[in-house]
Amino acid sequence: MTQNVSAQDARTAPDSNPVSWQTQDDVLLITINNPPVNALGHAVRVGLIAAIDALEADGSVVGAVLTGGGRAFVAGADITEFGKPIAEPGLNEVIDRIEGASKPVVAAVNGFALGGGLELTLGCHARIAHPKARVGFPEVHLGVIPGAGGTQRMPRLAGVEIAVELSTTGKPVSAARALSAGIVEAVDEDCVAAAVARARELAAAGEWTRVGELPSPNVPEGYFEAAEAAIVARSRGQISPLLSLEAVQGGLTLPFAEGLKLERDIFMRGLTSDQSKGLIHAFFGEREVAKIPGLDPAAKPRDVARAAVIGAGTMGGGIAMCFANAGIPVTVVEQTEEALERGLGLCRKNYENSAKKGRMTEAQVEERMALLTGTTDMQTLAEVDLVIEAVFENMGVKKDMFTRLDSICKPGCVLATNTSTLDIDEIASVTERPQDVVGMHFFSPANVMRLLENVRGAETADDVILTAMATGKRLGKVSVLVGVCDGFVGNRILHQYLRWASILLEDGCMPEQIDRVWTEFGMPMGPFAMSDLAGLDVGYRIRQEQAATRSGNERYVEIGDRVVEMGRLGQKTGGGYFDYIEGSRKPVPNAEVTALVLAESARKGIERRDFSDEEILNALTDLMTNEGAKILEEGIAMRPVDIDITYIFGYGYPAFRGGPMFRADAEGLAASLERIEAAYARTGDHAWKPSALLKQLVAEGQTFEQWSKARAA
Ligand code: 3HC
Repeated sequence: MTQNVSAQDARTAPDSNPVSWQTQDDVLLITINNPPVNALGHAVRVGLIAAIDALEADGSVVGAVLTGGGRAFVAGADITEFGKPIAEPGLNEVIDRIEGASKPVVAAVNGFALGGGLELTLGCHARIAHPKARVGFPEVHLGVIPGAGGTQRMPRLAGVEIAVELSTTGKPVSAARALSAGIVEAVDEDCVAAAVARARELAAAGEWTRVGELPSPNVPEGYFEAAEAAIVARSRGQISPLLSLEAVQGGLTLPFAEGLKLERDIFMRGLTSDQSKGLIHAFFGEREVAKIPGLDPAAKPRDVARAAVIGAGTMGGGIAMCFANAGIPVTVVEQTEEALERGLGLCRKNYENSAKKGRMTEAQVEERMALLTGTTDMQTLAEVDLVIEAVFENMGVKKDMFTRLDSICKPGCVLATNTSTLDIDEIASVTERPQDVVGMHFFSPANVMRLLENVRGAETADDVILTAMATGKRLGKVSVLVGVCDGFVGNRILHQYLRWASILLEDGCMPEQIDRVWTEFGMPMGPFAMSDLAGLDVGYRIRQEQAATRSGNERYVEIGDRVVEMGRLGQKTGGGYFDYIEGSRKPVPNAEVTALVLAESARKGIERRDFSDEEILNALTDLMTNEGAKILEEGIAMRPVDIDITYIFGYGYPAFRGGPMFRADAEGLAASLERIEAAYARTGDHAWKPSALLKQLVAEGQTFEQWSKARAA
């Protein structure tokens, strides 16, 4: 017998029938089929209630198995319903019905069970997972907490520690870990068959566990204080992990029903917070940037079976590792055997370090190294489908390289450059095939950072754009498509606020104040610690080259140059703007740098003054807003969300603020423009020249998001 939710269901019948059930002899197999990830939208919740009604009504079945169709068990509540009035039945009611059923219900966790999906399994009377299943509570990444009993049932089932780990980190765990933690009771390739057998067993025994009825576990003294301190230290101002902890801790001393109420209240606190709005924007934004409007619908990505990277330095080696990690054979090209050996040696060392930390096995190290082939012979590039050039950042060198690639590579091969600033069109102009040339700008360390800034040139073909985006996805990157300009999206904005941070030094701040403001805002590092990490000598060399052509009208701060001339090149020499105590990356103010800053202000006759933290934060964020708006008006970024995602994944911008453009909207564009105009009037500096788009939006009372939506419509 196969059934679906009937349209006569008393409560607003769903349009589709995403829950179906059929008997397997004496067990009812209930399947959730709500592609792509079986989210628990309204129709699914109605369907599940109907399925439990069927279980209760059908005298021929002794129990039920609940599973998911496709690759997911259930990816959680339907996030698109967040913020809308809850259409009954709510998820708690569904889970209550399952838990309170008069017959056993066993979850066959066939794929990922996340958030409300994992909570659904906790309402079941036993859980059996497929070996590839993953379970977790990612709600914190959306600014909320598990809101359907997860913070109350998980401690009762598997203990407080795993409940706190899952609900405060948001990281899912493997089926094996879920088994050892006691979340699932078995792992089986045929989890549905195993669950059917288990349902029969429970029915025959006549008793089963209702997790909500289990007693609360004991917790070692001091546990929550230590957990809270650890969360505060790692979450950089994000509140949801602390909310999860509060719900777990609070529930331990309450009867179960009261604990559920507490959890609900805390969930709502999270959901109505600005942080949650920012995180949900980031969640959908991460997916939206993959969608490129305006391309030829018939265009398809080209096949990339074999890739090559030119240059085995830190960047080239890191990029090559990304390909090996994704199982794509990659050739690394260097000029000399020594450079090649050094580069490949570094890749091996990186892998071996990961193996030492238990992140991969020795066999995996060898598998990945086997995918990396080194050569000094450019001719071998004739066979590859995609080449990424990662050589020295100099137009002459790049042009020379692309001329050679043009003569060697087969027709249809995608010719990519990893340049972070140079004009892709000028590079493409030396080839006979500018349509095959694209920018693929990785962020350092390339094998770690998630962002890939793909740069479309004036003539880049649609299928080449799609190849760059699809390759990014295969490499596990978040790819954002941008246009050509100096620094593209990420570094162009970065340049503005780094430059202004230096001006603030001269006007009255110290590096430690600016960096503290920036990290308290949620950035992983302040502008000066970041410069120290990147190394101050590279920027110094570029500035020396630009000295002859620099406009006399542009305010130029020499503090950075003097720091380099003191032999302080950043972390690699033990110090730059800051000192770094051996073995630590923690920046410590340096007395000589403090004296230098004061001396430079005095030399220029600048009367230093105090800046409030708010003033500093406004200056840096207003510059991001203004430059971001200019990037949008020039069409360099397609949508504000592309800038947001670039900053979240490339620069560690706090996702809970949604990205610089989302935050600008939330904070109010009018106030920001007022400050920008005042700064422009005061300084006359080009960085503060108000963006025409920003002025237009303020005049029309619009946000970036509204403007973007109106253009897309
Ligand atoms: N609700 C609504 N839509 C969802 C969704 C959800 N929970 N999870 C994924 N989607 C959508 C995505 O937006 C995407 O839509 P698109 O194709 O239109 O862009 C589509 O499903 C496919 O998603 P992905 O591209 O992310 O697919 P992947 O295979 O790469 O990843 C995944 C799958 C790991 C499940 C990932 O989608 C994910 O992490 N989803 C979110 C999981 C989550 O946060 N769950 C908790 C929800 S909150 C909750 O449950 C509250 C409860 O406690 C009450």
